[in-house]
Amino acid sequence: MLSSKRLICLSLLVVYSFAFTDYLLKKCGESGFCNRNRFYSNNILNSKNNYYSLDETSLNFDSNSNILYANVIKTIPSHQITTDNDTISHSNEELKITLPITISMLDSAVRFTMDEARSERHDVLEDFSSDLLSIQRYNETSNWSFDPKNNIPIEKFLKFNQLKNIVEISNEDESIKLNVYQDQFKIEIFYKGKLAMVLNDRLFLNVEHLRNEDDNDLNLLPEESSFNSFEDNFQYSKDDTLPFGPESVALDFTLIDSTHVYGIPEHADSLLLKDTSGSEPYRLYNVDVFEYNLDSKMPMYGAIPLLIGLHNDDTHQDNQFVSGVFWNNAADTWIDINYNNDLQNTKTHWMSESGIIDTIIFFTNSPLELSKKFTDLTGKPALPLLSSIGYHQCRWNYNDELDVLTVDSEMDRNHIPYDFIWLDLEYTDDRKYFTWKPNSFPNPKRLLQKLQRLGRNLVVLIDPHIKNDYPISNEMIVNDVAVKNHKGTPFIGICWPGKSLWIDTFNQLGQKIWNEFFQKFLYENVNNLFIWNDMNEPSIFDGPETSAPKDLIHSGGFEERSVHNVYGLTVHESTYESVKQIYSKSDRRPFILTRSFFAGSQRTAAVWTGDNVATWDYLRMSIPMMLTNGIAGFPFIGSDVAGFSGDPEMELIARWYQAGMWYPFFRAHAHIDSKRREPYLFNEPLKSIVRDIIQLRYKLLPTLYTLFHESSVKGVPIVTPMFYNKPQYKELYSIDDQFYMGDSGILVKPIVEKKVEQTEMIFTPGIYYEYYSLTPMIIDELKWETIITPLNRLPFFIEGGHIITTRDKYRRSSLLMQNDPFSLIVAPSMNGAAQGKIYLDDGNTFEYLTEEYLDFEFEMINGNKIIGKLNHLPKNLEKIGNLSINKIIIAKGQLAFNQETVTIKQNDSTFTCAIINEENRLVILNPGINLINDWEIIF
Ligand code: NOJ
Repeated sequence: MLSSKRLICLSLLVVYSFAFTDYLLKKCGESGFCNRNRFYSNNILNSKNNYYSLDETSLNFDSNSNILYANVIKTIPSHQITTDNDTISHSNEELKITLPITISMLDSAVRFTMDEARSERHDVLEDFSSDLLSIQRYNETSNWSFDPKNNIPIEKFLKFNQLKNIVEISNEDESIKLNVYQDQFKIEIFYKGKLAMVLNDRLFLNVEHLRNEDDNDLNLLPEESSFNSFEDNFQYSKDDTLPFGPESVALDFTLIDSTHVYGIPEHADSLLLKDTSGSEPYRLYNVDVFEYNLDSKMPMYGAIPLLIGLHNDDTHQDNQFVSGVFWNNAADTWIDINYNNDLQNTKTHWMSESGIIDTIIFFTNSPLELSKKFTDLTGKPALPLLSSIGYHQCRWNYNDELDVLTVDSEMDRNHIPYDFIWLDLEYTDDRKYFTWKPNSFPNPKRLLQKLQRLGRNLVVLIDPHIKNDYPISNEMIVNDVAVKNHKGTPFIGICWPGKSLWIDTFNQLGQKIWNEFFQKFLYENVNNLFIWNDMNEPSIFDGPETSAPKDLIHSGGFEERSVHNVYGLTVHESTYESVKQIYSKSDRRPFILTRSFFAGSQRTAAVWTGDNVATWDYLRMSIPMMLTNGIAGFPFIGSDVAGFSGDPEMELIARWYQAGMWYPFFRAHAHIDSKRREPYLFNEPLKSIVRDIIQLRYKLLPTLYTLFHESSVKGVPIVTPMFYNKPQYKELYSIDDQFYMGDSGILVKPIVEKKVEQTEMIFTPGIYYEYYSLTPMIIDELKWETIITPLNRLPFFIEGGHIITTRDKYRRSSLLMQNDPFSLIVAPSMNGAAQGKIYLDDGNTFEYLTEEYLDFEFEMINGNKIIGKLNHLPKNLEKIGNLSINKIIIAKGQLAFNQETVTIKQNDSTFTCAIINEENRLVILNPGINLINDWEIIF
């Protein structure tokens, strides 16, 4: 625990400073296991010594499970030990450590695990006495990260050859082959006949095996150091008891013919990952980083240990493929990346403080397929409430019922649509979650009912830290579901309420008790109250590195050290289940916002990028952060518009809303000390600019919801990096300030710099239509174009070849748009082709899972015909709303249109309809068609 002086300092920092206090977090050199593993890898590079080999007698292929079991043996040769005072002590005997491994093939993926046979270490265990801790390494991360509903079969091995020093394995279609080397343990993976990846290529494999502190030196390899093995001398984590001493796992992966790697959110850094040679590795360790540093590899609130590599073999054009390394470990993790441009290989080194090695390596032909495969395993993003992809109005804090209802009515009076209003921390009675401040919110149900009239929702904050000593925390103690300290009694730390306990949602009983709290707090019949799980890294004001002591104990006897990065997921998943249960009568989809996340969080929550600052740099950074989360399977993300802390200037607000309207999660939020900035308070022209932008978001909801659905089925990003849609263009590999909206053809580059009224955008060959004017721009070869963007315009194009759907009339909320007709915008390609689709359901319940959805597609052929085709019709059409199309806008582009009418065929009737021929566009009003029947429009 830290002194009360530091506590005061920290809380002052939370309120006043404008930059993250770096010194609170460890650098690699200050982290015992990171320091040791980098030290080891440097020495091994020189010595080239190998200490790990596969015991061929242990090879056991289980044909029932299709898993290969074997043991890798770590041999610590006998060597002389030099003690601190330079005297040579005894030479130890060779030591052999058994590391059981498994190898299996999933669909286009290889899974490799390595554990440690700790139970057979009687020599060490007899000195190890703890009733509180499990002696095993934590191997349950996949229980949280894998989708429990996934049914990816483990493939049979087609080939399993045991040769001298090599085991050859291949999957059924032989797209993946492995060579597992025995003497010097390493695994080569071939994809489609080509060497694609090597595990333990550089011999950085390191499993710090169980040992006694007194014998530590005897257990070290000559290349190893003992830095902070049984103690932690970092200023803020000195109290760590490190009961197992050093227990890290590390492995290197070389990506062959790959020069660009992405992923491993969350970092406030570029989309393309940087080389870490000579600098800090990327760190994945969920922590509270108020006003985090930018262009930084420092850890943040969430962790998805998935690294995506693009592989290009310059000698063969067709030899492009994509790999994904999923390092399924929830402990503190550092990743070194070294691009080796001469050899066209990228070398990566993963180091985790504890747990097992459990890695899944994917191979696919395209980046989009990689997202699909990764989310086949970890789960598809939930299809959210349609309303939750509207606009969210939040601030810390709306003070009372009147405040909320004033914001509500002012938004309406100023024609600014919104769907969700939020209550931050202070709505509670003295920061006791599951209570309401009595005088400010005397009748929450009444407030909810008032909001419900327009289909609006309220979100309240409930964090996993529970104030000590009130009925909720007492209940936690009685049921023994609080996270424990290393002595086995409930851990007490400091967070918003002061002294607090933390719910242990690893524990089934903990989940049940958490659920019961919600059952008493939420209302079954007023189902528009949703939950925000903040501070769930967990953030602990007096804890090391702003978080939990690593020797806290969770259910099953596992230390915080091993489960840390997945804790936030256990909380928000448990919250999701609780909300789902109470709304089960109306079948309403829950909405949960989480700050902390891990692989798999996409199944049950939305996320935001935490405590940013109202400056241009944070606006800029919000784009690559959103893109990275999207490609790592968790696309429902946004950043606080227009910056959490500080008071943004008018130009920044305008540009931030113009960028924020593309965030999948679009929420304005502000720090308690910042000035009020609800959009109706702005002076003109800002007020109109922001209103028009929010209205534009609502117009595009049908297209956006279709993208969310696509993502919920395939796991693809919603906001998509340029290279994802067009991996054939290397020039796009580092573009991260411009993006597509999924496969809709919408192409955007938000302005993220002050006083910029024009920008350069990169275009691949084709035709593009500026959204507002539909002015065409023909691009013959990949090039940069200057785009003019005065403050009331953002660079927004539709790429030729696409058809998008909109609902144009301003309404106060998404619910009220349900009875409005649709418009189509057709953007033909150079040869007059275009395609689009729309997915619709009730936007509200899970009925879409039982076929209650509408799926309709559009196609323009040869510039002279548009066809509409119904793919799926729900039984209950009324719930879906108006399905008529009352306007079709066709960008003229290259096409020569000279008729005054078009012929329309729907069902058995044929009729003609006038075309309004305007500059750049043709407009067909009231064509009399809908989304229920097939139709054709002939020019
Ligand atoms: C920290 C969150 O990041 C921020 O959004 C919130 O306003 C404060 N906690 C207060 O609850």
